[in-house]
Amino acid sequence: MVKAEIIVIGSGIAALKTALEASEHKHVILITKSNIRHSNSYLAQGGIAAAISDRDRVSLHKKDTLAAGQRYNKVKAVEKLVEEAPLVIAELIQSGMQFDHDDDGTLMLGMEGAHSERRILHSHGDATGKYIMEHLIACLKNSTITVMENTTAVELIIGKDDSCIGVKTLDKAGELVIYHAEQTVLATGGCGSLYHFNSNSQTVSGDGIALAFKVGAKVRDMEFIQFHPTLLFINGKAEGLVSEAVRGDGAILVTERGRPIMEGVHSLKDLAPRHIVAQTIFSYLQRGEKVFLDISMIKDFKKRFPTVSSLCEKSGLDLQFGKIPVAPGNHFLMGGIEVNEWGQTSVPSLYAVGEVACTGVHGANRLASNSLLEGLVFGNSLGHLLAKLPARSIPEEKEQSKDSCHFLSLPDFEALQEKLMNEAGIVRNEAGLARLKDFLETFNMEKLLQMEVTELSIKEIKIINAMIVAWLIAESALTRTESRGGHFRSDYPCEDDGQWLEDSVILACTDVKNRVKGRRLYEHIEA
Ligand code: SIN
Repeated sequence: MVKAEIIVIGSGIAALKTALEASEHKHVILITKSNIRHSNSYLAQGGIAAAISDRDRVSLHKKDTLAAGQRYNKVKAVEKLVEEAPLVIAELIQSGMQFDHDDDGTLMLGMEGAHSERRILHSHGDATGKYIMEHLIACLKNSTITVMENTTAVELIIGKDDSCIGVKTLDKAGELVIYHAEQTVLATGGCGSLYHFNSNSQTVSGDGIALAFKVGAKVRDMEFIQFHPTLLFINGKAEGLVSEAVRGDGAILVTERGRPIMEGVHSLKDLAPRHIVAQTIFSYLQRGEKVFLDISMIKDFKKRFPTVSSLCEKSGLDLQFGKIPVAPGNHFLMGGIEVNEWGQTSVPSLYAVGEVACTGVHGANRLASNSLLEGLVFGNSLGHLLAKLPARSIPEEKEQSKDSCHFLSLPDFEALQEKLMNEAGIVRNEAGLARLKDFLETFNMEKLLQMEVTELSIKEIKIINAMIVAWLIAESALTRTESRGGHFRSDYPCEDDGQWLEDSVILACTDVKNRVKGRRLYEHIEA
């Protein structure tokens, strides 16, 4: 058994920022199931938003964030995000991070969808995530933080006082290693790779959410999933992200014959909020019409977008034709483990930060380039909080009854990805969501929640976690009988402020019993 003051699980921007700040006064162990360079943050092309130009205002960044979030955001969290943005960026620059500059030496500020001002900082064009992460990884090397790679968190440990006291892990060889910690932080990212089409690192499959849910943490807003409009779409497969910054630089979405598809759909046309653009592209693809990004007007495309260019070239696409075939796919989860603005979950001594957490900052849809920012701002404040916490003695582990894994049958991960894409994708309805939920419930959700994980392989644990998260998405999406932001129901196509603006779907483990087939709460609501 290994002991630490703080355990951080994950290796994206929120994990590293939290760990770095906490390590000023505490011993931190950071564990990640893959290696430190595998995360959504590392892949991020878009950049990082902050109101730092003379023309811009924090109040405008707030207004744009609330508009993208369809007014469902938690205003306090939004204010914290936009107000602290210029400070965390200044700190990052002071510590040596290089952002792109204009020829006159001023910071280059880009435009993206639904922003009313140029406020997006980039590094090396569309490789911003990689360069911020390399900067933070370099800082990590100069810190006292212990990094454990190839270490998969399989179960959070609960003490006799009902607080979280650490995590059980499996190492590369499949050996159980137990970590005890005074405070445990989940920073494992969202659940993008649960969907057949996605822009995420394949390691991001919702496990942090499942781990927290299983020990009683509340999970909310799981119906709000952002589908990025433009993934490179080759031979029926989504091959990676084509950044929105490409549209920010003038590219437009067109049919095979070159007709612009966003004309007349929204006043911001190709830079309309992502859910509108994604739904429009989806409707063309559903009718069998291909959609392309016309990039012919962008000068020096390869220089400006090296990551997108190399992605296209690797997939055998010749950029000389000036057209990139695109399709939408899962990009970001607005929901997650319910936390306050300090990252505290409903389980004492368990914290969540970054995409795995739901502070409510993104509302029903995230504004572009607010996610790296979220990781920095909320990671910064959580790290400071943890650094200052008084030491606590770790109680003994609580005894809990577990189900044996004999006769366990599970679906294929790929089959699950397909089902989520089809039944809980860009356009949902009651019939599809109920089909998904029924499918999951044939595997006995109550039992899956209390499996003895030490009898399972990493692959089985990944599938069980995926099923738990899929169930949370299906249940939440069924319950919210309206459309808002990243949640579009064809059977309830309008926003219903009266019923839903103030209301959230919040689920806890204890609700599962009431919501499995035949006992669904939404049926009671409808009755
Ligand atoms: C993009 O480059 O389009 C993604 C940026 C983001 O999701 O914030």
